[in-house]
Amino acid sequence: MRDGSATVFVTGRCHEVRKQPVRRDKHFTVPDTSYAVHFESGYPRFNPPIKRSLSQIFSLIACRQNRHNPLGRAFTRGTFMSSPHLAIHYKESFLGAPLTIERIHRRLRGGSQSFLVECDDKHFYAAKFLGNPQGNRSVINEVFFYPIIKAAEVLTPRLVLLHLPPDIAKDDRLYFAMGNKRIRPEGTLHLGSQFPVNPDLTAIFDLLPSMLFSKIRNLNDVAKVFVLDKYVHHTDKRQAVFTRDRRFADFLMHFIDHGMCFANWVLGDEPLHGLMFDRTIYSKVDMRRETEKALSLVDALPDDIFPSAIEAVPPSWFAPGDMEALAALQDSLRKRKGSLPLLVKRHLDDLGL
Ligand SMILES: Nc1ncnc2c1ncn2[C@@H]1O[C@H](COP(=O)(O)OP(=O)(O)OP(=O)(O)O)[C@@H](O)[C@H]1O
Ligand SMILES: [Mg+2]
Repeated sequence: MRDGSATVFVTGRCHEVRKQPVRRDKHFTVPDTSYAVHFESGYPRFNPPIKRSLSQIFSLIACRQNRHNPLGRAFTRGTFMSSPHLAIHYKESFLGAPLTIERIHRRLRGGSQSFLVECDDKHFYAAKFLGNPQGNRSVINEVFFYPIIKAAEVLTPRLVLLHLPPDIAKDDRLYFAMGNKRIRPEGTLHLGSQFPVNPDLTAIFDLLPSMLFSKIRNLNDVAKVFVLDKYVHHTDKRQAVFTRDRRFADFLMHFIDHGMCFANWVLGDEPLHGLMFDRTIYSKVDMRRETEKALSLVDALPDDIFPSAIEAVPPSWFAPGDMEALAALQDSLRKRKGSLPLLVKRHLDDLGL
């Protein structure tokens, strides 16, 4: 909120809210319409979801802030900051307005113990919940990598914020198995990676046999992602899912799982990191030519790409000390652009590509 205005989402709808310096009892003006606002449990007076005039809600928040109520934390320096009690407060970013989870379908495989969910837009998402065993940084990294992979025009599923409403949060399948403990997700805002098709109706493949690699329409994307993964030091295997397009008798490769990008925020140099499971895929592409093109894409990434990615992350996802670590990471990413062509060349040499 730089100029006295902010954008907030109230159950997926976006409003400009203006600060009113002259009036003390009401800090903000908002459109005087009725919206459903979800408050988390822990603030029983407003639970379950209630309908109220938005201006009433904000004047309530403002006046509770005066009485040192925790809800007052929603306003800090005149802006909407993360509050554990509010499922609204989110500033507009490339992730858009949060979608509401309507159904938990099933568990998905993988270390972050994500779930297949269906949202109020009737699409399916791999939901990565906060508090998962891979840590919240793995979820934050997905958000950081998203604008980079999009800028390179590589096929990747849409990333969205998910709102976990209290009734769905109670679903007894929704827990992380850690040792012999069952841990519940933390908070109401989580991350979703959209399934490219309805998985109940259309097949999605985690792997494709190498004899079908030549049928992947966007095969050259592996070279682009190779360079991007070197830039951000992706420490995991590079993963994609494949869908079949019957009209063209070919496949599309959608790159997923960016949770281990940014090497826990201290970038290193390891030739075997960030490679596709079946490395023969690289032999089907002119890697020298395509990585050269991808290097110029990285070079052209705008300077504000990382700062705006940090802003897109809900503040409650960060832990103490994260901002300092991110300042150092941002600096490393800036410097790494210069050394990247050599690093890519060396790693291609090491792999015999
Ligand atoms: N957008 C998507 N579209 C289709 N399937 C997906 C999508 N996102 C995730 N999946 C499926 O869910 C599984 C788990 O997702 P993902 O690999 O992102 O999670 P993870 O827990 O971080 O995995 P890992 O253990 O590899 O780190 C994937 O292997 C894939 O089968
Ligand atoms: Mg994975």
